[in-house]
Amino acid sequence: MEYTTLGWTDLKVSRIGLGTWQYSEAWGLTDYEKAKQVIAKAVELGINFFDTAMVYGRGMSEEFLGKALRELGVKRDDVVIATKIPGEFLNPHDIFKSVDKSLKRLGIDSIDLLQLHWPPCWHNYPTPAYAKTLERLVLLGKIKYLGVSNYPVVLIEELRSSFSFTDVVSMQYRFNLAERWAEEELIPYAEANDLTFIPWSPLAKGALTGKYSLGALPEFKDVRGGEAVFHPENFAKLEKLLNTLRDVAAKYGKTPTQVVLNWMLKYSPVMLPIPGAKTPEQVEELAGAIGWELSYEDWRRIDEESRSIKISYATW
Ligand SMILES: NC(=O)c1ccc[n+]([C@@H]2O[C@H](COP(=O)([O-])OP(=O)(O)OC[C@H]3O[C@@H](n4cnc5c(N)ncnc54)[C@H](OP(=O)(O)O)[C@@H]3O)[C@@H](O)[C@H]2O)c1
Repeated sequence: MEYTTLGWTDLKVSRIGLGTWQYSEAWGLTDYEKAKQVIAKAVELGINFFDTAMVYGRGMSEEFLGKALRELGVKRDDVVIATKIPGEFLNPHDIFKSVDKSLKRLGIDSIDLLQLHWPPCWHNYPTPAYAKTLERLVLLGKIKYLGVSNYPVVLIEELRSSFSFTDVVSMQYRFNLAERWAEEELIPYAEANDLTFIPWSPLAKGALTGKYSLGALPEFKDVRGGEAVFHPENFAKLEKLLNTLRDVAAKYGKTPTQVVLNWMLKYSPVMLPIPGAKTPEQVEELAGAIGWELSYEDWRRIDEESRSIKISYATW
């Protein structure tokens, strides 16, 4: 495994992390022992950055992650636990309450990275009001670092200017070869401000792994049932890129999944993708995205092809 630091801090993090939304009804990995095997493999391969959230399985993901790390005997300082607080809880009262619940579910004293999962869109909590409470939790040692997720730049700026003693360290957004809107202003903002950029759904929820094809798309019973990228209208637009990914993968003796992640890591040094995995074998493959490099020509070929893909979300 290769390592970098989290944003402007000196906290050591693996170049890829593990997403753990999979431990929820939404994705269907609700068997603790199976989830533990996935986490064990990640730890064995040197992945030390784990991304979870209060909303994943309404606490199931946090519980599974905390329990597995404890049972595996992983030293607290050897892993970086990143969780998220939903936008609805971003008021002075609920922040304390929900952070306490997360700490309890994870079985830890302090959260390494608390990410604001999305802005309080429907509740109109003023940014300065909740920023002060978050900062208080940093001062009290219950949160080490703060990050944002799904925040537009204007709101990040407002949040950062509301802090007196701290600053955000990371930004987490949808970004993959089929869905590249984040590169318009979010990734440049992360790069200019020394913030880690954490792409979520880096494999487009499995659509870019090369194992699905237009003619044989399964009827997903999980969160992917309503996912735009799997709608035939959109999936058809991926076919050419998928063929290129297969082609390039064969050239390097790698898999399309590994090529996708390698492309992303070469895109910017601030990238920290957090693919989700359902089996130890998948984790092994994900870790194999590190330790080699696409040539400039292959990187460009993939880049060019992915740029022509325009996913439409108005599919119903
Ligand atoms: N901040 C946010 O709002 C937000 C939103 C979404 C996700 N996230 C975070 O980002 C993480 C990753 O995103 P995601 O789970 O949506 O999508 P993803 O990482 O793009 O895709 C994950 C899925 O891809 C398939 N896969 C993984 N490794 C594979 C391999 N080696 N070979 C073949 N297939 C493989 C698995 O599904 P199958 O085996 O079933 O095909 C897996 O469940 C989440 O776990 C979560 O932590 C954050």
